[in-house]
Amino acid sequence: MGLKEEIARRRTFGIISHPDAGKTTLTEKLLLFGGAIKKAGAVKSSKIDRHATSDFMEIEKQRGISVATSVMGFEYGDLKINLLDTPGHQDFAEDTFRTLTAVDSVVMVIDCVKGVETQTEKLMEVCRMRQTPVMAFINKLDREGRDPFELLDEIEAKLSIAVRPLSWPIGMGKDFQGVYDLFQKKLLLFQASRQELTDEMVQITDLQDPRLEQEVGESAAQLLREEVELIEGVYPTFDVEDYLKGEIAPVFFGSAVNNFGVQELLDCFVQIAPAPQPRATENREVAPHEPQCSGFVFKIHANMDPKHRNRIAFIRVCSGIFQRGQYYHHVRIQKKLRFSNVTAFMAQNKETIEQAYPGDIIGLYDTGNLKIGDTLTEGEIGYYKGIPSFSPEIFREVVNLDAMKTKQLDKGLRQLMDEGVAQLFTYEMGARKVVGTVGQLQFEVIQYRLEHEYGAKCRFQSVRLYKACWLYGKNQKALKEFVDSKFRHIAKDKDGKLVFLAESKSWMQMVEENFPDVEFHITSEF
Ligand code: G4P
Repeated sequence: MGLKEEIARRRTFGIISHPDAGKTTLTEKLLLFGGAIKKAGAVKSSKIDRHATSDFMEIEKQRGISVATSVMGFEYGDLKINLLDTPGHQDFAEDTFRTLTAVDSVVMVIDCVKGVETQTEKLMEVCRMRQTPVMAFINKLDREGRDPFELLDEIEAKLSIAVRPLSWPIGMGKDFQGVYDLFQKKLLLFQASRQELTDEMVQITDLQDPRLEQEVGESAAQLLREEVELIEGVYPTFDVEDYLKGEIAPVFFGSAVNNFGVQELLDCFVQIAPAPQPRATENREVAPHEPQCSGFVFKIHANMDPKHRNRIAFIRVCSGIFQRGQYYHHVRIQKKLRFSNVTAFMAQNKETIEQAYPGDIIGLYDTGNLKIGDTLTEGEIGYYKGIPSFSPEIFREVVNLDAMKTKQLDKGLRQLMDEGVAQLFTYEMGARKVVGTVGQLQFEVIQYRLEHEYGAKCRFQSVRLYKACWLYGKNQKALKEFVDSKFRHIAKDKDGKLVFLAESKSWMQMVEENFPDVEFHITSEF
């Protein structure tokens, strides 16, 4: 098979949700339906247990386990599907944002009882920014949830995306009988806690078919007919092009834990989800079928063995064919590197591979050359765009507790930042170091890892900071004036970019008004 055919058969996507909506369960069922695993329970371990927030050792252990399951490739019919798991724990939201840069489409899971939750809103914002095609799965229909029409309205209002139901529930909670597949026009009936996958299904292509009454009862049949008529009247005909542009999200209903509605989602996914798409670098757009290989690092995972500081860098291949043992140009450090240990992630195991194609995610063993956002290429291509840092929510100053270990502390901090555990800002004045995160948990993880992997001891001291704003000024003079006047609040991020550390919202607003020629950005890429 040639490069073009290999690209055409790949589908690389991520599953996102607010914790507990059923992402892990759906992932598992997709693998089950895809034939990648044989029994339920196989991917449960990838989940970071929110209840264990105080036990960071446990979390690190789980993070370790999750390496194997964070990318799951499997063959489905003629397709090679790469499913990327995203940490549900909100303290790892940045990990999820970055993972979204490596996918071509997204499946979003929503709990029918809770509706659209905060984490989903944030993740959807990132999808909208990147115009990523999104499919929605409304889960837990076996529970008494909200009215399906109300849920659809809420998705449109809160997530700012048009929706089009492609399956429709028959009843809900204890009366849930199944879903009618509007995409393929067929009826599948619900059997609670179905563990076995069977091909048994009732094919009803015309809703006027009297068999509908026989299968679901008179009142449910009548309601289904009315609701489907309403859907066809209210919602426009589904247009795949609009989905591919990220303008409309097809919606499916079901119950992941009961294997219900999952097949409908998967059947539609394989028909409409996009193959690997072109990606923008700082210079130009790169098409996947270009012969010269290129890719970028979107995730780094430290080896769990503290004696060996090996790391696995996760690369999304964007163009050409990646070959094991070949030299690639590392754009940031301007060096040629070759990797003899290249891993592909299949559903249940890792395997060493010789080559990988656009859309594939590979793991490279690295001793410290690679960091998040790095580009590897065979050709002239510059940096791949699209891995912004977002302003952290919580800031703490690093206090070194062992002056003899300053070097180790600096090195440890640098390497942990390369992994994307948190963000480091170094004040221009006095070189004070401030770590910024989205959740409390990372401070514990950093402290623990600094001590156990680098032999450095530190504590974190509260600082009153509201946001980190990356600075930009077309007018260099205005920028310099600003930096000079706010010198005590200016820092540099890990890449040496200028950042203003604002202490409060009102102060930031005032500063923005007073310096109209300076741009303040709460993401590092603008
Ligand atoms: P997450 O990865 O999005 O955080 O969610 P996860 O799949 O772990 O699901 C969260 C909980 O919701 C789990 O229950 C899971 O069994 C349940 N769940 C998933 N799909 C459905 C569904 O269709 N219907 C119902 N009623 N529940 C569903 P748990 O009690 O937290 O864990 P477990 O002991 O069941 O594994």
